[in-house]
Amino acid sequence: MKTLLAILLTGAFLIATPVANAKDVAPLLQKAGCIACHSTDKKILGPSFKEVSAKYKGKSMETAMIKKVRDGGSGAWGPMPMPSNEGKLTDDEFKSVVEWILSL
Ligand code: HEC
Repeated sequence: MKTLLAILLTGAFLIATPVANAKDVAPLLQKAGCIACHSTDKKILGPSFKEVSAKYKGKSMETAMIKKVRDGGSGAWGPMPMPSNEGKLTDDEFKSVVEWILSL
């Protein structure tokens, strides 16, 4: 029973460990063209990813943020809209990118 519990806990830990880190995410940001408008610590057309993370610190924003990044939108940072990024990344890739941004 103890062994089974240990196996289950290890499994849950492996699944829960975020896979997203800068090394994995950089090629995705490049492939999807995010870096034309965003950088980690400087505002370009859109907010810097560090500003985004700071704004939502302590809130659970992941699901809403995946949708916003995929579908685009405006109003959170100003009138300039973010165009839709749908089809540029898979759902898993959007999730990794958003997890990484919110972890900054
Ligand atoms: C053409 C420029 C452009 C591109 C390309 C772009 N963005 Fe944005 N992004 C913006 C703008 C402008 C905003 C601010 C929107 C607002 O005020 O709600 C924004 C906002 C964001 C936000 C914050 C959203 C919020 O509600 O606070 C995140 C996160 C983000 N972008 C991530 C990405 C990612 C990841 C990609 C690539 C898949 C990407 N963006 C591609 C311009 C862009």
